[in-house]
Amino acid sequence: MRKRLVIANWKMNGSLALADEVLADFSAKSNVDVIVVPPSVYVSRLIESAEGSFDVGLQDVSQFENGAHTGDVSAAMVAELGATAVLVGHSERRGEHGESDATVAAKGLQVLAAGLMPVICVGESLAERESGKATARVRAQIEAQADCLRFGGEIAIAYEPIWAIGTGKSASALEAVAMLREIRGVLREVSAERADGIRILYGGSVNGENAAELFSHDEIEGVLVGGASLDTEQFAAIIRAADV
Ligand code: PGA
Repeated sequence: MRKRLVIANWKMNGSLALADEVLADFSAKSNVDVIVVPPSVYVSRLIESAEGSFDVGLQDVSQFENGAHTGDVSAAMVAELGATAVLVGHSERRGEHGESDATVAAKGLQVLAAGLMPVICVGESLAERESGKATARVRAQIEAQADCLRFGGEIAIAYEPIWAIGTGKSASALEAVAMLREIRGVLREVSAERADGIRILYGGSVNGENAAELFSHDEIEGVLVGGASLDTEQFAAIIRAADV
Protein backbone atom coordinates (compact mmCIF):
# COMPACT_ATOMS: atom_id res chain seq x y z
CA MET A 1 0.00 0.00 0.00
CA ARG A 2 1.11 3.51 -0.83
CA LYS A 3 2.06 6.12 1.78
CA ARG A 4 -1.11 7.97 2.71
CA LEU A 5 -1.72 11.67 2.32
CA VAL A 6 -3.54 13.67 5.00
CA ILE A 7 -4.42 17.26 4.12
CA ALA A 8 -5.70 19.94 6.50
CA ASN A 9 -7.93 22.46 4.73
CA TRP A 10 -8.42 25.34 7.14
CA LYS A 11 -10.69 27.17 4.68
CA MET A 12 -11.18 30.78 5.95
CA ASN A 13 -10.48 29.82 9.55
CA GLY A 14 -7.54 29.88 11.91
CA SER A 15 -5.11 32.52 13.09
CA LEU A 16 -1.42 33.03 13.63
CA ALA A 17 -1.92 31.39 17.02
CA LEU A 18 -3.26 28.25 15.34
CA ALA A 19 -0.31 28.29 12.95
CA ASP A 20 2.03 28.25 15.95
CA GLU A 21 0.04 25.47 17.64
CA VAL A 22 0.20 23.35 14.49
CA LEU A 23 3.94 23.86 14.27
CA ALA A 24 4.37 22.62 17.80
CA ASP A 25 2.12 19.57 17.27
CA PHE A 26 2.95 18.15 13.87
CA SER A 27 6.70 18.13 13.89
CA ALA A 28 6.67 14.44 14.85
CA LYS A 29 7.62 12.27 11.89
CA SER A 30 5.16 9.63 10.76
CA ASN A 31 4.86 7.39 7.75
CA VAL A 32 2.19 9.72 6.37
CA ASP A 33 2.50 12.68 4.01
CA VAL A 34 0.94 15.68 5.76
CA ILE A 35 0.03 18.92 4.00
CA VAL A 36 -1.38 21.89 5.91
CA VAL A 37 -3.41 24.26 3.75
CA PRO A 38 -4.08 27.49 5.65
CA PRO A 39 -5.50 30.76 4.29
CA SER A 40 -2.89 32.12 1.88
CA VAL A 41 -1.75 34.93 4.20
CA TYR A 42 -0.39 32.34 6.67
CA VAL A 43 1.43 30.23 4.11
CA SER A 44 4.85 31.89 4.43
CA ARG A 45 4.76 31.75 8.21
CA LEU A 46 4.01 28.04 8.18
CA ILE A 47 6.60 27.22 5.53
CA GLU A 48 9.35 29.15 7.30
CA SER A 49 8.71 27.42 10.59
CA ALA A 50 7.73 23.91 9.45
CA GLU A 51 11.32 23.10 8.52
CA GLY A 52 10.15 20.24 6.36
CA SER A 53 8.23 18.36 9.06
CA PHE A 54 5.09 18.79 6.95
CA ASP A 55 4.29 20.39 3.62
CA VAL A 56 2.22 23.51 3.09
CA GLY A 57 -0.31 24.12 0.33
CA LEU A 58 -2.66 26.77 -1.00
CA GLN A 59 -6.45 26.64 -1.22
CA ASP A 60 -6.61 28.15 -4.70
CA VAL A 61 -4.60 29.88 -7.44
CA SER A 62 -5.32 31.87 -10.56
CA GLN A 63 -6.07 30.09 -13.83
CA PHE A 64 -3.74 32.62 -15.48
CA GLU A 65 0.02 32.69 -15.56
CA ASN A 66 0.33 36.37 -14.57
CA GLY A 67 -1.07 39.80 -15.45
CA ALA A 68 -3.91 42.16 -14.53
CA HIS A 69 -5.91 39.90 -12.19
CA THR A 70 -6.41 41.90 -9.02
CA GLY A 71 -6.65 39.77 -5.92
CA ASP A 72 -5.26 36.61 -7.50
CA VAL A 73 -1.97 34.82 -6.91
CA SER A 74 -0.22 32.68 -9.49
CA ALA A 75 1.00 29.11 -9.19
CA ALA A 76 4.56 30.31 -9.85
CA MET A 77 4.36 32.65 -6.82
CA VAL A 78 3.11 29.79 -4.69
CA ALA A 79 5.99 27.62 -5.87
CA GLU A 80 8.48 30.39 -5.14
CA LEU A 81 7.28 30.48 -1.52
CA GLY A 82 8.02 26.78 -1.13
CA ALA A 83 4.46 25.45 -1.06
CA THR A 84 4.08 22.01 -2.63
CA ALA A 85 0.39 21.60 -3.41
CA VAL A 86 -2.73 23.54 -4.36
CA LEU A 87 -6.38 22.58 -3.93
CA VAL A 88 -8.27 23.11 -7.17
CA GLY A 89 -12.00 22.84 -7.78
CA HIS A 90 -13.07 22.63 -4.15
CA SER A 91 -16.88 22.61 -4.09
CA GLU A 92 -16.88 25.90 -2.15
CA ARG A 93 -14.91 27.52 -4.99
CA ARG A 94 -17.15 25.93 -7.60
CA GLY A 95 -20.27 27.02 -5.68
CA GLU A 96 -19.36 30.46 -4.27
CA HIS A 97 -17.15 31.61 -7.14
CA GLY A 98 -18.84 29.90 -10.06
CA GLU A 99 -15.75 27.93 -11.05
CA SER A 100 -16.56 25.69 -14.01
CA ASP A 101 -14.84 22.44 -14.92
CA ALA A 102 -12.92 24.43 -17.56
CA THR A 103 -11.66 26.92 -14.96
CA VAL A 104 -10.65 24.08 -12.68
CA ALA A 105 -8.75 22.43 -15.55
CA ALA A 106 -6.94 25.71 -16.34
CA LYS A 107 -5.94 26.07 -12.69
CA GLY A 108 -4.75 22.46 -12.55
CA LEU A 109 -2.52 23.03 -15.57
CA GLN A 110 -1.04 26.18 -14.03
CA VAL A 111 -0.27 24.26 -10.85
CA LEU A 112 1.38 21.39 -12.74
CA ALA A 113 3.35 23.78 -14.95
CA ALA A 114 4.74 25.39 -11.78
CA GLY A 115 5.93 21.96 -10.61
CA LEU A 116 3.35 21.66 -7.82
CA MET A 117 0.76 19.00 -7.07
CA PRO A 118 -2.86 19.87 -7.77
CA VAL A 119 -5.39 18.24 -5.45
CA ILE A 120 -8.36 18.12 -7.78
CA CYS A 121 -11.63 18.09 -5.82
CA VAL A 122 -14.75 16.42 -7.19
CA GLY A 123 -18.06 15.36 -5.70
CA GLU A 124 -21.78 15.26 -6.21
CA SER A 125 -24.59 17.23 -4.54
CA LEU A 126 -27.27 15.61 -2.39
CA ALA A 127 -29.82 16.01 -5.19
CA GLU A 128 -27.47 14.26 -7.62
CA ARG A 129 -26.93 11.38 -5.20
CA GLU A 130 -30.61 11.00 -4.43
CA SER A 131 -31.50 10.95 -8.11
CA GLY A 132 -28.90 8.28 -8.89
CA LYS A 133 -26.63 10.69 -10.78
CA ALA A 134 -23.66 10.73 -8.40
CA THR A 135 -21.41 8.48 -10.46
CA ALA A 136 -22.18 10.26 -13.73
CA ARG A 137 -21.46 13.65 -12.12
CA VAL A 138 -18.11 12.57 -10.66
CA ARG A 139 -17.11 10.82 -13.91
CA ALA A 140 -17.82 14.01 -15.86
CA GLN A 141 -15.80 16.10 -13.41
CA ILE A 142 -12.80 13.76 -13.76
CA GLU A 143 -13.06 13.53 -17.55
CA ALA A 144 -13.03 17.35 -17.70
CA GLN A 145 -9.54 17.21 -16.14
CA ALA A 146 -8.13 14.98 -18.91
CA ASP A 147 -5.48 17.52 -19.95
CA CYS A 148 -4.16 17.70 -16.37
CA LEU A 149 -4.30 13.95 -15.93
CA ARG A 150 -2.17 13.46 -19.04
CA PHE A 151 0.23 16.34 -18.33
CA GLY A 152 2.60 14.46 -16.03
CA GLY A 153 3.66 15.42 -12.52
CA GLU A 154 2.16 14.43 -9.21
CA ILE A 155 -1.62 14.72 -8.87
CA ALA A 156 -4.12 13.79 -6.18
CA ILE A 157 -7.89 13.53 -6.55
CA ALA A 158 -10.12 14.27 -3.56
CA TYR A 159 -13.61 12.81 -3.69
CA GLU A 160 -15.73 15.07 -1.51
CA PRO A 161 -19.50 14.55 -1.71
CA ILE A 162 -20.96 18.02 -1.12
CA TRP A 163 -23.60 16.63 1.26
CA ALA A 164 -20.82 15.34 3.55
CA ILE A 165 -18.79 18.57 3.75
CA GLY A 166 -19.10 20.38 7.05
CA THR A 167 -22.34 18.52 7.87
CA GLY A 168 -20.98 15.99 10.36
CA LYS A 169 -22.47 13.32 8.05
CA SER A 170 -19.52 11.52 6.50
CA ALA A 171 -20.10 9.15 3.61
CA SER A 172 -19.88 5.59 4.89
CA ALA A 173 -16.57 3.91 4.20
CA LEU A 174 -18.34 1.64 1.70
CA GLU A 175 -19.93 4.56 -0.16
CA ALA A 176 -16.56 6.26 -0.31
CA VAL A 177 -14.76 3.11 -1.47
CA ALA A 178 -17.33 2.47 -4.21
CA MET A 179 -16.81 5.96 -5.63
CA LEU A 180 -13.03 5.79 -5.27
CA ARG A 181 -13.01 2.56 -7.31
CA GLU A 182 -15.15 4.24 -9.94
CA ILE A 183 -12.71 7.18 -10.03
CA ARG A 184 -9.74 4.82 -10.44
CA GLY A 185 -11.55 3.28 -13.41
CA VAL A 186 -12.13 6.68 -15.06
CA LEU A 187 -8.49 7.65 -14.46
CA ARG A 188 -7.38 4.48 -16.25
CA GLU A 189 -9.67 5.27 -19.17
CA VAL A 190 -8.35 8.83 -19.42
CA SER A 191 -4.66 8.01 -18.92
CA ALA A 192 -3.73 4.37 -18.53
CA GLU A 193 -0.12 5.45 -18.20
CA ARG A 194 -0.58 7.83 -15.26
CA ALA A 195 -3.70 6.56 -13.49
CA ASP A 196 -2.03 4.31 -10.97
CA GLY A 197 0.40 7.01 -9.86
CA ILE A 198 -2.45 9.24 -8.67
CA ARG A 199 -3.50 9.09 -5.02
CA ILE A 200 -7.25 9.22 -4.46
CA LEU A 201 -8.48 10.76 -1.20
CA TYR A 202 -11.83 11.03 0.55
CA GLY A 203 -13.10 14.23 2.17
CA GLY A 204 -16.27 15.17 4.03
CA SER A 205 -16.69 15.22 7.83
CA VAL A 206 -13.57 13.13 8.48
CA ASN A 207 -12.64 13.26 12.16
CA GLY A 208 -10.63 11.49 14.82
CA GLU A 209 -13.46 9.01 15.40
CA ASN A 210 -14.29 7.86 11.86
CA ALA A 211 -10.77 7.97 10.39
CA ALA A 212 -9.78 4.45 11.50
CA GLU A 213 -12.83 2.90 9.80
CA LEU A 214 -12.12 4.85 6.60
CA PHE A 215 -8.46 3.83 6.64
CA SER A 216 -9.33 0.15 7.12
CA HIS A 217 -9.87 0.25 3.34
CA ASP A 218 -6.75 0.32 1.14
CA GLU A 219 -8.64 2.27 -1.56
CA ILE A 220 -8.71 5.32 0.73
CA GLU A 221 -5.20 6.64 0.11
CA GLY A 222 -5.66 9.77 2.14
CA VAL A 223 -8.16 12.31 3.42
CA LEU A 224 -8.91 16.00 2.97
CA VAL A 225 -9.99 17.34 6.35
CA GLY A 226 -11.82 20.60 6.96
CA GLY A 227 -13.37 21.26 10.38
CA ALA A 228 -11.44 18.60 12.30
CA SER A 229 -8.12 19.98 11.05
CA LEU A 230 -8.67 23.10 13.18
CA ASP A 231 -8.53 20.95 16.30
CA THR A 232 -4.94 19.83 16.63
CA GLU A 233 -5.83 16.76 18.76
CA GLN A 234 -8.40 15.57 16.22
CA PHE A 235 -6.01 16.15 13.36
CA ALA A 236 -3.23 14.28 15.14
CA ALA A 237 -5.65 11.36 15.69
CA ILE A 238 -6.42 11.30 11.94
CA ILE A 239 -2.70 11.19 11.12
CA ARG A 240 -2.23 8.31 13.57
CA ALA A 241 -5.13 6.41 11.97
CA ALA A 242 -3.54 6.91 8.54
CA ASP A 243 -0.16 5.66 9.74
CA VAL A 244 -0.59 1.93 9.20
P1 PGA B 1 -15.10 18.99 6.43
O1 PGA B 1 -14.56 19.69 5.09
O2 PGA B 1 -14.05 18.03 6.89
O3 PGA B 1 -15.32 20.13 7.40
O4 PGA B 1 -16.37 18.29 6.08
C1 PGA B 1 -13.85 18.95 4.14
C2 PGA B 1 -13.48 19.85 2.98
O5 PGA B 1 -14.29 20.66 2.55
O6 PGA B 1 -12.36 19.75 2.44
